[in-house]
Amino acid sequence: MEKIHNLPRLFDFEAMAQKTGNGNGFTGQDILSVSQFDRERLSYIFTRSHEMRELVERVGACDLLKGYVLACLFYEPSTRTSASFIAAMERLGGSVIPITQGVQFSSVSKGESLPDTIRTLEQYADVIVLRHPEVGSAKLAADYASVPVINAGDGAGEHPTQALLDLFTIQVELGRIDGLKIAMVGDLRYGRTVHSLTRLLMRYEDISLRFVSPDTLRLPMALMNELLDQGIKVRETHDVADVIENADVLYVTRIQKERFSDPKQYEEVRDCYEITPDLMTRAKEKMVVMHPLPRVGEIHYHVDDDPRAAYFRQVKNGMYVRMALLAAVLGRA
Ligand code: CP
Repeated sequence: MEKIHNLPRLFDFEAMAQKTGNGNGFTGQDILSVSQFDRERLSYIFTRSHEMRELVERVGACDLLKGYVLACLFYEPSTRTSASFIAAMERLGGSVIPITQGVQFSSVSKGESLPDTIRTLEQYADVIVLRHPEVGSAKLAADYASVPVINAGDGAGEHPTQALLDLFTIQVELGRIDGLKIAMVGDLRYGRTVHSLTRLLMRYEDISLRFVSPDTLRLPMALMNELLDQGIKVRETHDVADVIENADVLYVTRIQKERFSDPKQYEEVRDCYEITPDLMTRAKEKMVVMHPLPRVGEIHYHVDDDPRAAYFRQVKNGMYVRMALLAAVLGRA
């Protein structure tokens, strides 16, 4: 559904917007799931993300989204997603309503429903970024909103903008995505970034996926079946040592304590993996270690000095990708 709303008209960019059409079909669209992205749309966002990187490196900021307002509504803690959306909007000249320091300071604490909160924020903002603990909450918000809603993580469901920045990072670091061997490590059951990235990787040719987790945190069966149906090469193991030598990408994730209903189960798996400098001696010279962050012990701090440790470069890429997405959904790409 294309959402029609009153966008400010800035003469500087009007001609450009007309020339580039409606941002490859993104204008006014919600971004809820990676299922919305085929290779053409991924390529479009990545091209725009490269341009955003150049823009930031050369001049820092511009006026592309001057006059536009982003509402950042976070019902769960966040550092990177919230800060990078705010930075993205501000570097493009727009403004932000930040409800990111805990919705306890908003009227949610008085019992306001998600639909009412969304219908309030759309009175002020041109686009809403939402993080919420329940799967499907972003879709619910989008159903009520007349402005685009961007899913910044819905419980153990999806985190599409993280998957976009993860894929962009792989492309930037290794120069390609087709043909890569990607190992995902940690909490593959609750890790929404793993689910979203896995779905995006299915779009590429000759991908091999290795899943490393304890038994209780294996990739959900439905997602595994999707991979098998598509003929993707898949292997599961408990041990990082089984995969590190061949991996082009080691995508490490945190065990998500907050998703466990039984604290004892969390204690059983909390320290099951740690990527150390010693383990890295077995990895290829040209590979990358990624992590959506925050980390809580899965990657030793001494690995940070290894040039293959890409997780802080990955963080910065998040801002470029979110700049590209904001410009696209607001018709200013
Ligand atoms: N990667 C990620 O979503 O980080 P935050 O929880 O800090 O936003």
